[in-house]
Amino acid sequence: MAYNYITAAEAAAMINDGDSIGLSGFTAPGVPKAIPEEIAHRAEREHAEGRPFKINLYTGASTSDHCDGALSRANAINRRAPHQNVPDLRKRINSHDTHYNDRHLSDMAQEVRYGFFGPIDWAIIEAADVTPDGEVILGTGLGNAPTYVKLAKRILIEVNDKLPTSLHGMHDIYLPDDPPYRREIPIYKANDRIGSPVLKIDPNKVAGIVKTSFYDGVKSFTAPDEVSKQIGSNVVSFLLHEYRRGGIPKEFLPLQSGVGNVANAVLYDLGESKEIPPFMMYTEVIQDAVLELIKKGKCTFASTCSMTFSDETEIKLFPQLKDVASKILMRPAEISNNPEVIRRIGVIAMNTALEADIFGGVNSTHVLGTKMMNGIGGSGDFTRNAYISIFSCPSITKGGAISNIVPMVAHADHSEHSVDVIITDQGIADLRGLDPVERARKIIDNCAHPMYRELLNDYLKLGKGGQTPHSLEKAFAFHNAFNETGDMRNAKF
Ligand code: COA
Repeated sequence: MAYNYITAAEAAAMINDGDSIGLSGFTAPGVPKAIPEEIAHRAEREHAEGRPFKINLYTGASTSDHCDGALSRANAINRRAPHQNVPDLRKRINSHDTHYNDRHLSDMAQEVRYGFFGPIDWAIIEAADVTPDGEVILGTGLGNAPTYVKLAKRILIEVNDKLPTSLHGMHDIYLPDDPPYRREIPIYKANDRIGSPVLKIDPNKVAGIVKTSFYDGVKSFTAPDEVSKQIGSNVVSFLLHEYRRGGIPKEFLPLQSGVGNVANAVLYDLGESKEIPPFMMYTEVIQDAVLELIKKGKCTFASTCSMTFSDETEIKLFPQLKDVASKILMRPAEISNNPEVIRRIGVIAMNTALEADIFGGVNSTHVLGTKMMNGIGGSGDFTRNAYISIFSCPSITKGGAISNIVPMVAHADHSEHSVDVIITDQGIADLRGLDPVERARKIIDNCAHPMYRELLNDYLKLGKGGQTPHSLEKAFAFHNAFNETGDMRNAKF
């Protein structure tokens, strides 16, 4: 079929106030860039003329400034799910301009198919290529594209000429049936391919194709600071200790790693370790550090939802993609983060916390209990189902005014029932098999900063019984002290 080639502005002109849009991509990679920016401009013009214009925006995960940034500055997002990380959108969410539904990433596609988010008017996807009969080679991030194109009434495609068609074969597109017909997801090893290398769409639904030319806009990593390096080194010590004592099988197990400096420092140290054998990754995002591990032969395969490589890396990698193409597979988010698969293949999960409490609860999302930071992302998918689930964070933040170890987390994303190990720059608390008070002693002694240990021990003594001896009166004394005086060290018990 002959497609209609249009401009991004013409595409944006087709969108109506109140439309629900599903985008391809996962983090910045794979997310359409030109049409969302033009929708933002359209919203600005409509608002200037006194007309309402907001869309409901559903994605795979976070996006980029082209999308969430531009649309938020234009106040053009009514409802948003399942994840974000852009400062302008964060402000809209925390001031209630945008209704944000923070979801586990593995849940989003199926919940859209179940109808929990209402009908999808548009799917907008980024592609390296599309054939006349509707076979799409997607870009560097997949997200929930298969579900959005299936459900959407109309489809818009950005064909990005920076994306090499050698991406063909790096995607594994698989849509599970919905209950009561769902069968097992037949992945038994991180490198099992179960689906199609191309996304099949109905060409008759394509309202237009926009030609674009963008790299994904991911910044290069800065060198990790001393605290991140120390946390990374503690995580690797823990994994080595487990491996030596036989707690991890001799073949090793697939790793999941969050994003950011600590994750990069961990992967770097793992790459350097002679004792840890080559391993696979079953994760949602791979960054530059993983590519280095693949090139060195230390990571033998990476199953992911996106290749979140910096522009610098994309520019070098794209012309020689075939050298690594057989070592990387991009899957839909509901498969990359699938609880059934994570549990079956024994993924070791490593995620970052904003704060952890002395009994093992973790807050990943809400600064001081109320302000949304990013969202739970895939941390819940992996933590709850992992072979071992590790959370790391610095012991203190803001020069010590904040202790990342608190009496009770001010918002609970991961309960003590799912968290196995907490690691800070101070040390490691292996919580497996321990009761609440044993856990508290270990977290205070091994993970809290020395300047907070006495205060945390004072809190622990306040409890008047019960298996988990909280003082409901004083549980948020650290947070209250920070809100009132700017420093948690002023907490009084
Ligand atoms: N209380 C208040 N503020 C805190 C805090 C706490 N306990 N801990 C950190 N902060 C502040 C930092 O000071 C920093 O503020 P700044 O931007 O003003 O400098 C900010 O929060 C970010 O902290 P940082 O240590 O740089 O965080 P990070 O980049 O390592 O990210 C999370 C940590 C938890 C926000 C991030 O990992 C996340 O969003 N996790 C949830 C999603 C997830 O796990 N995804 C991966 C799954 S695969």
